[in-house]
Amino acid sequence: MSEAHETLELARRLARAAGRVQRERYETGFQVRTKSTVIDLVTEVDHACEELIVGGIQRERPDDAIVAEEGRGDARDDATWRWVIDPLDGTVNYAHGYPRFCVSIGVERKGVRTVGVVYDPLLDEEYWAVRGEGACLGDRRLRVSQRDELSDALVATGFAYDVRRSEQDNVDHFTSVVKHARAVRRDGSAALDLCYVAAGRFDGFWELRLHAWDVAAGLLIVEEAGGRASDLRGGPAPASGEEVLATNGRIHQQLLEILSG
Ligand code: IPD
Ligand code: CA
Ligand code: CA
Repeated sequence: MSEAHETLELARRLARAAGRVQRERYETGFQVRTKSTVIDLVTEVDHACEELIVGGIQRERPDDAIVAEEGRGDARDDATWRWVIDPLDGTVNYAHGYPRFCVSIGVERKGVRTVGVVYDPLLDEEYWAVRGEGACLGDRRLRVSQRDELSDALVATGFAYDVRRSEQDNVDHFTSVVKHARAVRRDGSAALDLCYVAAGRFDGFWELRLHAWDVAAGLLIVEEAGGRASDLRGGPAPASGEEVLATNGRIHQQLLEILSG
């Protein structure tokens, strides 16, 4: 098996194991705390999932670098492989019992997005991709939608936890797009939003001020499903997640015209 496929198998195994923890503890009592702002939450389950995933990588791939949202990462500048992990994407949903959240694991090889896995434990939907080999949902090949017009499109977005005080609050963009698209959703899990673009359920998604762990897997999955990803001016989508526009390609320019203004 190639190293990329071994990496994929480990990522899938760990994503499903963390997803099981999320499913078991969903709507049970767990501790919730705030982080950067009063609307930025973290639960015991985020930490348990991160520990499980990071522990598994450290055991099986001790030379790899790890970036993980809740801080258990292992920075190694000389590593070939780097794992970028969001142990629970959609924490506000999870804390409120709203059934939309996932595990997201992206892996770079020499700085290039190479493997991506996103697992939705409630729907038992596993999205995955390997660079150059396409993207799948379970064993079904994924393909972005064929919609050409933004006016017929279902698109999604999100707002960062500093929305109350940031000048880059995405509110003007939201107001503009909602007047042009068929509908706009804000469903609280950027990693799943990207996978929904890959699956043709959404025709496009944009957000500002995300982090590397929100997009590491989803951007690869969109691209491998035939979609296009960029920043809000049409340049390469930054791995930092600072700006992202991901679409079926066909409505990309129409959204860029609105979002780059
Ligand atoms: C958040 C979700 C949300 C997005 C936020 C993210 P978290 O991640 O992806 O949809 O709008 O910007 O921070 O905190 O649930 O992992
Ligand atoms: Ca996240
Ligand atoms: Ca998270």
